[in-house]
Amino acid sequence: MKALLLAGGLGTRLRPLTEQMPKPMAPVGNRPWIEHLVRQLRDQGVREFVLALKHYPDLIRNHLGDGKKWGVSIEYVIENETLGTAGAIKNAESLLGDCFLVFNADIVQHMNIKPLIQYHQERQATVTIGLTEVEDPSSFGVVDISETGRIARFVEKPKSGEAPSKLINAGIYVMNKEALSYIPAGREVSIERETFPLLIEAGEGVYGFTMTGYWLDMGTRERYRQVHWDLLDRKLKLPLPGKEKTSGIWTGNSCRIGDGALLIPPVVIGNRVQIGDKAIIGPYTVIGDDCRIANNTRLSETILWDGCHVREGAQLYQCVFGFGSEIGSRHILYEAFAHRIKEEEEITV
Ligand code: GTP
Repeated sequence: MKALLLAGGLGTRLRPLTEQMPKPMAPVGNRPWIEHLVRQLRDQGVREFVLALKHYPDLIRNHLGDGKKWGVSIEYVIENETLGTAGAIKNAESLLGDCFLVFNADIVQHMNIKPLIQYHQERQATVTIGLTEVEDPSSFGVVDISETGRIARFVEKPKSGEAPSKLINAGIYVMNKEALSYIPAGREVSIERETFPLLIEAGEGVYGFTMTGYWLDMGTRERYRQVHWDLLDRKLKLPLPGKEKTSGIWTGNSCRIGDGALLIPPVVIGNRVQIGDKAIIGPYTVIGDDCRIANNTRLSETILWDGCHVREGAQLYQCVFGFGSEIGSRHILYEAFAHRIKEEEEITV
């Protein structure tokens, strides 16, 4: 079964990190999330992928290529206009089979898809929506589901105590081709707001299947950080780069740790990282490849993407810095989210 990955959104809520890159390319533990996703689905038997792209598509295409490196085949559909979550599926119709998987590529998840596919086949559903249970459903679209597993309706952002369930759309679907006839071509269409309600109204079999395992939409700053803390706590069991030489401290190749530097677990340090003397790093800190952290610096609950430079004496708390960011000496920053603007040729080559 082919998997369609929706990766063309603008990622407005994660700006400025997503100003010049698609959200699914944001690293999770120093590796683009979309690469984790492809590897993980490949390990569950998916061999053919279609990627629907719009915002900075070359960054994804250049990274994943034709998929051979990962042992899969990848085709791309690039949109000229934003088509929305259903419009993007319709636009990829010619590359999809009779039954296919769809993933919102900005959802960080570690879930078993086989039971979802099996459920879809057993019910002979038109669409089966993977559901996940959340503690507080008030900021999500919640499903009203019957005992047979059929979805009756969606309730958007229910008030406390008025939610029909704690089950929300996980952004993972099994779809039959017939569902695409309900999506108008050539305009922006939301699958959550338009297509699913339309399919339900038409009496098509729209089922929900509750999935278990790790799930978090990384679309906001808080959740992007949370994904990392869950990764470091190993609640999210994706592979971490480097070797765990000391418990909770993963270190890459060719790193230099200065005299008197202190690493407080959990910490991930990429390849070729230089950490200066008396720097204090951690807890909950992820440092990308080729970063330079000067003497007497302090980093806590902070994520640095590749190539950042933290100058002498700077202190970073709960910060996220994009590729190649520079942090001036003796700056003290709390909850900073920053991205260095790239030249156009740096982005596309
Ligand atoms: P925000 O602007 O912060 O809401 O982010 P977003 O639009 O990127 O994410 P949203 O949660 O709305 O979208 C869910 C998934 O669908 C993400 O993986 C997006 O990349 C993807 N997506 C959203 N709109 C489009 C689109 O027009 N085309 C394609 N190909 N994918 C889309």
